[in-house]
Amino acid sequence: MAPQVVLLHGFAAATGDLDAAVELVSAAAPFRQLKTPGGRLMSAAMTSCGACGWYSDARGYRYERLDPLTGQPWPAIPEPFLRLARASSEVAGFGTYEPDTCLINRYVPTAQMGIHHDADERDFSQPIVSVTLGAPATFLWYGPSKRGSPLRIRLLPGDVLVWGGAARKGYHAVQKPEGGTRYNLTFRKAL
Ligand code: SIN
Ligand code: FE2
Repeated sequence: MAPQVVLLHGFAAATGDLDAAVELVSAAAPFRQLKTPGGRLMSAAMTSCGACGWYSDARGYRYERLDPLTGQPWPAIPEPFLRLARASSEVAGFGTYEPDTCLINRYVPTAQMGIHHDADERDFSQPIVSVTLGAPATFLWYGPSKRGSPLRIRLLPGDVLVWGGAARKGYHAVQKPEGGTRYNLTFRKAL
C-alpha cells in the first residue's frame, strides 16, 4: 500500500469466531461514545479488551487499566483475536507480536473517524493490526504529514491492515461505513 503499510485482503475471512468474541467483550465492557478532551462526542462507539484500554475524556487521551464505566478490569483479549493479530503481524513482515490491548470501534452508518495518529502508546516498536468486520469503509492513509492527498484504501469485512516501523505514527482517517454497521479491531502494544 505504502512503505510498511500492508493490506492482508480477506485474512480474517472466517469472522464467525470474531463476531462472537466482540459480543463477549461488549457484554462485559459495553460500547460507549467517548468525549474528546475538547468535549466533543466521538461518533464511533468504543470498548476495549486486554491489560489496558484506550480512553478519552476531559482529562485527555490515555490508557486505563480499569474500565472507567464499570470499575472492572477490561475483559481479556479473546483467543481468536490474539491468534489473528499474531498471524497478521508475522505475515505482514513485522515478526513476533504480543499486543496488550485491542480497541473495538463500532461505526453506525453516520459514524466516522477524523484524521489522527495513534500516539498514546509507550511502545512504538510494535505494529498496529487493524481488522474490519461488518460493513466496508474507505480508510485514508496520509502518512507522516496530515497534509496532502491520502491514499484511499477500501476495507472489506475480513480485511486486515497492518502498519509499523517507519509508518507506525502515520496519520489516518476512516470514512462512514457503506450500507451497515462496521466494526474495527485495533491491536496495539501500549504498555
Ligand atoms: C482507528 O484509527 O482507530 C480506527 C481505524 C478503523 O476503523 O479502520
Ligand atoms: Fe487510529
